[in-house]
Amino acid sequence: QAMPSLKETFRKHFKVGAAVSTRILEAQGDFIAGHFSSVTAENEMKPEEIHPEEERYDFAAADRIIDWAGKNGIAVRGHTLVWHNQVPAWMFLEKDGTPVARERLLERMREHIRTVVGRYKGRAYAWDVVNEAVDDKTDRALRPSPWLDIIGPDFIQAAFEAAHEADPEALLFYNDYNETDPVKREKIYELLRSLLEQGAPIHGVGLQAHWNIYEPSLAEIREAIERYASLGLRLHITELDLSMYRFEDRRNDLDFPSVEMMSLQRQRYEEIFGLFREYADVIDSVTFWGVADDYTWLDYFPVRGRKNWPFLFDEKLRPKASFWSVTDAA
Ligand code: XIL
Repeated sequence: QAMPSLKETFRKHFKVGAAVSTRILEAQGDFIAGHFSSVTAENEMKPEEIHPEEERYDFAAADRIIDWAGKNGIAVRGHTLVWHNQVPAWMFLEKDGTPVARERLLERMREHIRTVVGRYKGRAYAWDVVNEAVDDKTDRALRPSPWLDIIGPDFIQAAFEAAHEADPEALLFYNDYNETDPVKREKIYELLRSLLEQGAPIHGVGLQAHWNIYEPSLAEIREAIERYASLGLRLHITELDLSMYRFEDRRNDLDFPSVEMMSLQRQRYEEIFGLFREYADVIDSVTFWGVADDYTWLDYFPVRGRKNWPFLFDEKLRPKASFWSVTDAA
């Protein structure tokens, strides 16, 4: 059986994306261009990488990804503008090392957004404007972070407004994880609802989909899709991977996945893509947080140095049973 292309298989339904780096594009560019219709920079468009000092941007890596995508007719999702991680320390400090004042931080945030979104105007069609702002540790609505602590909750709306001004055509997303957990889901829903009520230029919600072969249940995923879609927002699956381990599982004794793990993953991928196809009228994009099992951030998180196998392609870029379960059913 000839290997079908993922992006061709799902062309009628949604874009199929992968998180990439310049290094991976060099090694696997042709393979990626054959299977994916969208890319996201795994790290190279984050503030820490792109804006190392207040007066200095470094666009070299991001430009290479954007140029590669342009040459290959592949869409780019920009990721990410305002997040509590991978943001350079200078952002929250005055030159003398004291904490930055509110107005100054707002201006820095806006300047960063204007510069980055403006540079890739017309080339990054969507942006994860605000990433992971909802709290999932306490019963507070928003996660404590310098953005929240210094600016206040309206940093979110201000970020969307700045992005919209810089590229009025770009689709603007709020992106988060544990998005199917009923408690966090309702907090995310409430944040989105209030942004829409205040007239914020937000067009969609990104479901990161860092799931595993056991959870969340299909019913929980369905409920989350329906809940967010009920707001009239577009849905992107932004960082899909199916870990072989439950999140709290810290075992680290496997050199390769068990037959049972492989088979559960195959079934789960089939069900999950079945669900995505069912909701293809609201889901426009499904992006994996990587390409193939030779490299995944899950090799380092949450257990450093534990190999994981979350994707449709194996360590040699060969299709896994998971690949066939997804493409055969489509
Ligand atoms: C991760 C990258 O995959 C890692 O290489 C990096 O060390 C940390 O960030 N949620 C997000 C992504 O929105 O940006 C994160 O990416 C994974 C969790």
